[in-house]
Formats: sequence, C-alpha cells, structure tokens
Amino acid sequence: MSEQLAGPVAGDAVELEVERIAYGGDGVGRADGLVGCVPWTAPGERVRARIVERHPRYARARLEGVLAAGDARVEPGCPVFGICGGCQLQHLDRDAQLASKARAVADAFERIAGKPLAEPLACEPAAEPWHYRRRATFTWRRSEGTTVLGFHAADDPGGIVDVEACPIFAERGNAALAGLREALANAPPADGDAPEEARIAVRALPGQDAQAGVFCDSAERARELAAHCAERAGIATTWGARAGTAAPFALAAGAPRLVSRMEFGGLRLRVGFDSFLQADPVAAAQLYDGVENALAARPGDRVIDGYAGIGVLTCRLARAGVRVTAVEAHGGAASDLRANAAAASGEPVHVLELPAERVDWRRPRPDRVVLNPPRSGCAPAVLDSISRSSARRLVYVSCDPTTLARDVRRLGSAWRLESIRAFDLFPQTAHVETLASLSRENSP
Ligand SMILES: C[S@@+](CC[C@H](N)C(=O)[O-])C[C@H]1O[C@@H](n2cnc3c(N)ncnc32)[C@H](O)[C@@H]1O
Repeated sequence: MSEQLAGPVAGDAVELEVERIAYGGDGVGRADGLVGCVPWTAPGERVRARIVERHPRYARARLEGVLAAGDARVEPGCPVFGICGGCQLQHLDRDAQLASKARAVADAFERIAGKPLAEPLACEPAAEPWHYRRRATFTWRRSEGTTVLGFHAADDPGGIVDVEACPIFAERGNAALAGLREALANAPPADGDAPEEARIAVRALPGQDAQAGVFCDSAERARELAAHCAERAGIATTWGARAGTAAPFALAAGAPRLVSRMEFGGLRLRVGFDSFLQADPVAAAQLYDGVENALAARPGDRVIDGYAGIGVLTCRLARAGVRVTAVEAHGGAASDLRANAAAASGEPVHVLELPAERVDWRRPRPDRVVLNPPRSGCAPAVLDSISRSSARRLVYVSCDPTTLARDVRRLGSAWRLESIRAFDLFPQTAHVETLASLSRENSP
C-alpha cells in the first residue's frame, strides 16, 4: 500500500527535527510534510532516521544518527538502554522526562476526553530516579545450551535481552537477581534438552528480604525450579502456572503465599506475593496524599474504594473515620485488605471481593468514589453504575492517561473535571500516573 502514499515510504532515509516526545517515548517531528516518530530522540535535535512503517498519516522510523543533539540529551544510565524494552527515556534529562509526561496527560485530555486543560500541567517528580522499583518480572529462557535472564527487547517483543542488573530496580532486588541467575544457569534440565522458558518475579520491599516467584507453563516444573532457586540462591520462593505478562500471577495449589509486612504512613500492611503493590510504594505516598486531598472525605462519609488492592487507601480513610466499601476482585489481595483493615483499627470496612463489573455501585449509597483500575481502565458498565449512584465526587487514579481520558469522556457531561495531577512514579520510562478529580452538582 505504501507506494500509493505521497512522500517517503518504508526503507527511505529521512532527516527530521524532533519537536516533542509523544506518549510512549517516541520523538515526533516532520519530514517532507510527513509526521515521523523516532524512538530514543530528544526534543530540539536533528536526526537521520530510516522509515520502518509507513501509515497514511505518519511513519515510524529507526534512529540512524543524531546530527545535532538536543539540550536535554544525557548519557543513559544502563548499558542495554535502547535494546531493552523496559525504559524509553533514559537519554533525556529529568526536566525533559517530566515535561514529556505532563504533555502526554494534557494531550490525552484534549484529544480523547475532549477536555483541554485550562492550566498548564506539571508532572510531579519522585524522589528517587534510580533503583526505585521494588518488584520486577524477568523472563528466563534456555535453548541449546544458552540461557538468558532479562526483559523483552525494545524492537522485538519475542526477544529477551540479558540484564545483569537493572538500574531502576532496588539494589537488593538486583542482588537477588544475581543469585537467581547463577542458580538458573545450573538448573537441572526439564524434559530432555527441550527449550524452556519461565517468568521470574522478584520483589524486594524496604526492610524485607527479597522474594521470588517462578512461573512456567507447567506448575510442576515451576515448583522444581523454585525449589532449586531457593536452595542455590538462598531466597524464599513460590511458584505457579504462567499467566500473561502482567502481574499478579496465579500461585499453584500448595505453593506458599509469601507475605511481607510494610510500614506505610503509620500503617503496618500485609502484602502477599501475588497482590498488587505500586512499583515504588515509597514514592506512591505522594499519590495517596493527593487522592485523600482530592477526595476531601469527612468522618462519617461513605466512600467506595474501587480496585482497592491490599487497601492502602482504604485503611487510611477508615482510620480517619470514613465508612469505606472496598471493591477488589483478586482473592489474595482481598484477604490482605481484610487483615490490613482489621489491624488499622478505624471504621469497619466492608469488602466486596467481586469484579467491579458485577458490583451495583448504588447499593453502598456512596458520597464519594475512588477508582484505580488496571491499565485497561474501567468497563462501561462500571462507569454507568457509578453515574447512577449517589456519588458526587469521583477521584480516578490511572497509570494510562489514554484509557483514563477515554473513561472521562464516557462519564459524560454530568461530571465536571475539577483538577488533574500527574506523578512521575516510573522515572526513566514513559509511564505516568495521573489523578483526575471530578464532581457533579446534582445527584441523580
Ligand atoms: C492498579 S491496582 C490498584 C490497587 C490499589 N488501589 C493500590 O493503590 O495499591 C488495580 C487493582 O484492581 C484489581 N482488579 C483488577 N481487575 C479488577 C476488576 N475487574 N474488578 C475489581 N478489581 C480488579 C487488581 O487485583 C489490583 O489489586
């Protein structure tokens, strides 16, 4: 098809000046009237790139050379940056990273939600730009005598880039990774010498020993590898059948549910290995403060904490005398939440261990609602049910501004967008956490 399009086509070399960084991390500029997206580039720089995909209105191109470097360009902190698919922005200084994230959020609200922001948005920095992640999931692959343990490649999602240590992962996590690498290199072969693959999840919470989970197609093989790693690397391990690429993983029947305890803003929280926890729970404190401020719940108010996880926010609210109904579909997280709420000794918490889509959001007669769904956002049924409820304020926290903006559009004109904040909870990557606060004058 591309030969019918005017301008450069796949395979052509182009020169362009990068104007901005788009959501996802690509630099965007124009070449011969065509919009070109080129990863690993910085605003204001002139680059040479080769078109690899030509679409009717834009092209994706591979960087071949920086002709004039932009002011924001810095030396990346990782030897596999640009090859590994984990980070997209290490070549940009801190200010440029923050600016690109603020712009991604503002663009999503303008283009997708149809709500251009009245004020310029700033992305709030996290304290630690390196070694902040407390959990990471690696892929181990063994084939014909060679093994790799690392992350998916940037240009080839099927390829694995060997990662000896990850500069955004906690130091203690990297030490555990080194032990696991050595253990897996000496793992007894599976079925003959057939190629095999496992997902290796490593968690290193502040003040806790690192833990690891091994997930293979076969839960039995995962159990064998986990036992081997525990013995050789001296790390507590668990196991399960391999799920998709996203945590949490399903633990196998009989596998230990490793549990950690975490001090968090005066709360002592239990978190199982398979429960969701923010990548950097320490930096996430600023996000939870922001949610509480935006929610502005008073003692006695009824709040639904939707997609509540282990109940960090639930416990903070209950402790302040707010009557909380927490919605969480994952059984392990819901059991952590119950234990955490009991230990927080505040208002009793009502836990609905159900998918959000099956909840009637009118029933708890909420004054206010918090939503913090996975990246894919909320199902329309959830938004409809909230719109039919008595809630007059909605605070929506999201790690994907595009699905957040889509859901704000779906909520419709009855809800007024009051404020937006963006937090850099994932420095060096293109990810951004957004908090949107909405209100409506009249309850239905
Ligand atoms: C992004 S996490 C947020 C957790 C929590 N708010 C926090 O800050 O730690 C999303 C949570 O939603 C849960 N979840 C995913 N899909 C769900 C669904 N359809 N219904 C209810 N909970 C769901 C996950 O198990 C996870 O705990």
